Amino acid sequence: MKNKTSIQGSWASRWIFILAATGSAVGLGNIWKFPYITGENGGGAFVLVYLACILMVGIPIMMAEVFIGRRARKNPINALADVAEESGSTKKWGIIGLMGMLSGVLIFSFYSVVGGWVLHYIKVMLTGEMIGVTSDAAGSAFGALLADPATLLGWHTLFSIMSIAVVAAGINKGIETATRIMMPALFVLLIILLGYAMTTGGFAQGWNFMFEFDFSKLTWNAALVALGHSFFTLSLGMGTIMAYGSYMTKDASIGKTVLAIGGLDTLVALVAGLAIFPIIFSNGMDPAAGPGLMFISLPVAFGQMAFGQLFGVLFFILIAVAAWTSAISLLEPTVAFLIERLKIKRMTAAIGLGITVWALGIACLGSFSFMSDVTFFGKNTFDFFDYITANIMLPLGGIFIALFAGWVVKDKFAQDELQLPSAVFKLWNISMKFTAPIAVAIVLYFLINPMK
Ligand code: PHE
Ligand code: NA
Repeated sequence: MKNKTSIQGSWASRWIFILAATGSAVGLGNIWKFPYITGENGGGAFVLVYLACILMVGIPIMMAEVFIGRRARKNPINALADVAEESGSTKKWGIIGLMGMLSGVLIFSFYSVVGGWVLHYIKVMLTGEMIGVTSDAAGSAFGALLADPATLLGWHTLFSIMSIAVVAAGINKGIETATRIMMPALFVLLIILLGYAMTTGGFAQGWNFMFEFDFSKLTWNAALVALGHSFFTLSLGMGTIMAYGSYMTKDASIGKTVLAIGGLDTLVALVAGLAIFPIIFSNGMDPAAGPGLMFISLPVAFGQMAFGQLFGVLFFILIAVAAWTSAISLLEPTVAFLIERLKIKRMTAAIGLGITVWALGIACLGSFSFMSDVTFFGKNTFDFFDYITANIMLPLGGIFIALFAGWVVKDKFAQDELQLPSAVFKLWNISMKFTAPIAVAIVLYFLINPMK
């Protein structure tokens, strides 16, 4: 293919790509969502299915996304179209990218609301108003926040502006340095929190909850959530990694890079779970408490530990940064597309998309108050956007990307980018052609037709 670089620019090095992609992957999905869905789905068996999905479906699909983006060096829609054309197929494959962009818009609109919760908790930790609270009080404080749309709107707006500003600034100098410092810091603080969790007396129970595989608790719905989350947490199925891949230099090994990103993301999720569940059990809280799990358990923990206020402030700042680097990546594919398609300035594209997602976000934050009556299939807007994106749209996007990479793209083009040892290439190819699409199809089928 003729494009040596994307018109958007490229990453300075392989490390910058790893940092940016890890910044996208590691986010609220790891620290907020993973623990609470593990709690809701009974623990161990869910974690095992999740790990299997990461390894057998997520990592291979991530390799496909990176190579498609890097080969075409364009936004996801055009990248899919160009790579299809090169292999003698139709440019219509670009449609997968369109569905991905819609997923990005819907995800951003609830993600930004949760990002806003995190910003609010930085303030709460700073003022020290939750020092020494009981879990009941922490639960009512979280409930009161949800019921207060004006406060939520302020934080959601701030989080949206932060994200739009970085995307508008382009292939991001600022965020690169931020990621370089903040990601290791986040990890260190997670380890400190884990250390604290080990002293609470709930550690064994937390560990067992996560790693005792009781398959009688596994339902098709739990398997769907595990599969969907493996896409969500690795930022797959919607073009983010494809867009980031289009800015990647040619000399970097895709296989090793993707393993590093997937490994880091998984590590952060598991450590987050091991830090949070012991706190839950030692305070007699409910692991199935849902989206409030982190916001209720952490203030209680920080309220009890030495230097808890300091660690609490730092921790929520780092979660905010992790959420921020992911939020940017939700917007980037669509912004790149708008620039390349409409020939408009990055600033214009970012602001236009920004206003759209910000407005949709208002419907999400209102789900807990003035819009609580508006439901889709029995779910409020916030839950509905979360459900259809993570559990349906991302897995479907992933199936199509896999089928595309496995059946449409000529092996020699794929291997030209991936440069895998031939046995590994065969495995990857089987995963694209069969394992990944079949796994997703089975789970979606049983979701729609529950077994009696
Ligand atoms: N991977 C991010 C997280 O775990 C969320 C995300 C999904 C970001 C899809 C980009 C694309 O929080
Ligand atoms: Na993640």
